[in-house]
Amino acid sequence: MKTKALELRADGLFGEKLEYLCPSGVTPEKLERVKTLFTEWTAEKPTGPIHSGYRRQILAREGLGPSKLMAQKLRERFDSMMVLGIGGSALGAKTGLSALSWRVPASERRKVLVAENLDPLDFETLWSQIRPESTCFVVISKSGGTIETIAQLSVVIERLKGAGLEVSQHVIAVTDPSKGALRAWANEEGAQTLDVPSDVGGRFSVLTPVGLLPLAFAGLDVEALVESAAKQFEGLGLPLDSLAKVGVRLAELERAGLVGHVMMPYSTNLREFGDWFVQLWGESLGKIRPDGGAVGPIPVASLGATDQHSLLQLLVEGPRQCITGFLRVENWPSFGPRNPAVHKLPPQFASLSFSVGRSFGEILNAEMAATKRVLEERGRPVYEIVVDQLSAESLGALFALYMDLTTLAAAAYEVNPFDQPGVEFGKKILPEILA
Ligand code: PA5
Repeated sequence: MKTKALELRADGLFGEKLEYLCPSGVTPEKLERVKTLFTEWTAEKPTGPIHSGYRRQILAREGLGPSKLMAQKLRERFDSMMVLGIGGSALGAKTGLSALSWRVPASERRKVLVAENLDPLDFETLWSQIRPESTCFVVISKSGGTIETIAQLSVVIERLKGAGLEVSQHVIAVTDPSKGALRAWANEEGAQTLDVPSDVGGRFSVLTPVGLLPLAFAGLDVEALVESAAKQFEGLGLPLDSLAKVGVRLAELERAGLVGHVMMPYSTNLREFGDWFVQLWGESLGKIRPDGGAVGPIPVASLGATDQHSLLQLLVEGPRQCITGFLRVENWPSFGPRNPAVHKLPPQFASLSFSVGRSFGEILNAEMAATKRVLEERGRPVYEIVVDQLSAESLGALFALYMDLTTLAAAAYEVNPFDQPGVEFGKKILPEILA
């Protein structure tokens, strides 16, 4: 399956060596059922209790204009942005920043820091990197009441006031259009706001103002991100039929005991994409089915080639319990400062002479191919995504691909991918413990 931005090679999820795991295979009946559920769940308007507008809002380019406009105004007044948000309210922006900031010319770059965890040392380290008078603070929370985010907001408010700065001039809230404490506070305070569409949950919100505002402020091409995702949803990307087959197969393999799903990008800039994937896949699919059975995979964020010196031994020779998804960049920047080549090696390193004259990007890709082949030969399921370049188009297509794949896999599992009842239990106990 191939588009200009990316290619999905999923042969390694099928084949004889794996057939014994799921003897019934991906039947036409299963595929039809999954596609029907997918269409219902992502329809423009809800037709039942399970629904998300993540496709609808991207197709309508709903968040693009407001995010670009707000970012432009903020860029005129501030040199830095501090994002306060966690989970789906942070991971999309973090992924975009680490994947694409290098493309923004230095003269157009703005600093964006993401205060995610409620870690005191981390918060103070970030704080030491900004000047409050020239920083805007974007507090992002769909529910509007997340403890980690609001605790950090309280400190920002106090410090802005302490510095004699106007809170409403420095804080922007990105939250539900009408519900929640953050919306009420922003209205009362007179702070500017952007909407998280009411029908889009955190981990599906990267291409709403949740991700688009910080990325646009940083100088990234957010239009290309959204357009590329929209292309997938308009049917101009990877065919839904083939994606559905992959979604069903992944769910089948996971239910047959291959519970680990390792995301292994061979690009340090895409390391955070692994974290974004982990939240999306794990929080969407780890659920209780209508028949009462608990299902779900264990997503793992990894990095090639670094983890060839860590996790790989387990993947090759440990029990057969993981699916590995490889992600690589086809066209690295050409030779030069952005893609150095191995120079003439001193004679002591003769065993590595095959690498002389090869660029780092070339070697990295060859390492991925070698690793994939080893896993395939050992009968371990693998798949590969090749992005044309490290670009906004590729990242937009990747986001769209995994949002759809997650929804399709959930339809195969027969679980609701858009809720997360399990994370509420701890939240209820927290006040008791603090008391
Ligand atoms: O995917 C989700 O809905 C969650 O992981 C949320 O993103 C996370 O809990 C943060 O929630 P909120 O945006 O409401 O602060």
